[in-house]
Amino acid sequence: MERIIEYTADGSATLFVPELDEHYHSVKGALTESSHIFIDMGLKTSAAPSPRILEIGFGTGLNALLTLIEAEKSGRQVHYTGIELYPLPWETVEKLGYTNEERRATGDEQAAQWMKALHTSPWGEDVRITPHFTLRKIQGDFTSMECPSPIADHSPSIADHSPLFSLIYFDAFAPEKQPEMWTQELFDRLYVMMEKDGILTTYCAKGVVRRMLQAAGFTVERLPGPPGGKREILRAKKIPLTTEDTEDTESIFSFIS
Ligand SMILES: C[S@@+](CC[C@H](N)C(=O)[O-])C[C@H]1O[C@@H](n2cnc3c(N)ncnc32)[C@H](O)[C@@H]1O
Repeated sequence: MERIIEYTADGSATLFVPELDEHYHSVKGALTESSHIFIDMGLKTSAAPSPRILEIGFGTGLNALLTLIEAEKSGRQVHYTGIELYPLPWETVEKLGYTNEERRATGDEQAAQWMKALHTSPWGEDVRITPHFTLRKIQGDFTSMECPSPIADHSPSIADHSPLFSLIYFDAFAPEKQPEMWTQELFDRLYVMMEKDGILTTYCAKGVVRRMLQAAGFTVERLPGPPGGKREILRAKKIPLTTEDTEDTESIFSFIS
């Protein structure tokens, strides 16, 4: 698949895919969009002490890098599973210059090394990139994948970990370009893969997507989009049933049986 580097309104780069007539990020600001939707409205609002994150569409690794930086700042342990069907070569990602932005912000070369480590680390296994950030990249088609879990089969301390995700970054190409990634069946699966109080964020605020998330069981909020970008984004929460609801459900089941 051909990809062309383009610059977005905030000065950060993105990739354009001519075959799909689609960009990896908003042309109104790639870095601004990722920081707002996934870090400010996602990670920073998650109450999970050690978030287990699933990203649908690892792509350039920009969301992963921003998450790593936030994990190091906050001191929270993050386990990050990134699913990607078409991995990008490091040589392409390097040219995007995301780490230049981060270098300016952090005043050191560390972000560049982290980004390289995110891309050159092996696929299919847990890799500790920094003291607070562990990455597992999975190469495959999300639409036909068995439910991934944040626990690697070889996890030495499996008893300490939940098999469910606390946070999902849903960053697929737009529904008009890749409708197979935005289906009721997939949102139902994501709901099951998430722990209670888990959060899913996405840039897409279309009514049809909001209704599918609600039908899956999520409580969905429309939030303001990034500065200068989309008007609204979506944040979906898996809010547990109240005790009363649970009792109702139990009585329904006992009635049926
Ligand atoms: C909108 S881009 C976002 C990428 C990434 N989050 C970033 O910030 O660069 C969507 C990503 O989904 C990937 N993708 C497309 N189809 C997929 C599939 N069936 N399963 C997994 N990933 C897929 C694309 O290759 C691309 O990297």
